[in-house]
Amino acid sequence: MPIIAWNDTYRTGIDIVDAQHRKLFDAINGLHDAMASGKGRAHVAETLSFLADYTMKHFADEERLMTTHGYPGYAEHKKIHDRLVAQVNALVAQLASGAAPTLEVSDFLSDWLKHHIDEVDRGYIPFFKSVGVAKDTKAGPAVAVAT
Ligand code: FEO
Repeated sequence: MPIIAWNDTYRTGIDIVDAQHRKLFDAINGLHDAMASGKGRAHVAETLSFLADYTMKHFADEERLMTTHGYPGYAEHKKIHDRLVAQVNALVAQLASGAAPTLEVSDFLSDWLKHHIDEVDRGYIPFFKSVGVAKDTKAGPAVAVAT
């Protein structure tokens, strides 16, 4: 059963970001399923590792969009990304050193992602609309994403 479900309120109007956010939702659900169903440590570690790698890819792509277009909130946003990367790397290291995987990990990540999209990523939508990168999420044609 999914721990986190996508809906359109999470849309930013930037196709690549929305596709990556959806994939992160799927990856967190995959991690949760692996833990909840008692899959072995190796499978959980592999799932968490994929999630960690994909999170870093998403952050790098999102940050590139910000720097390419001169988003004024870039530095603060990047600090928040960097904090999560450090936390995820610590989780990966704990698992690698023998700690038992717990559902608190997928709970933490799902809460973090929902909050981050709602409270932090949402903050850049007006800017990216103003520079023609984000679609109007209510109406309007698709706009090519410069990545
Ligand atoms: Fe979509 Fe700021 O992460």
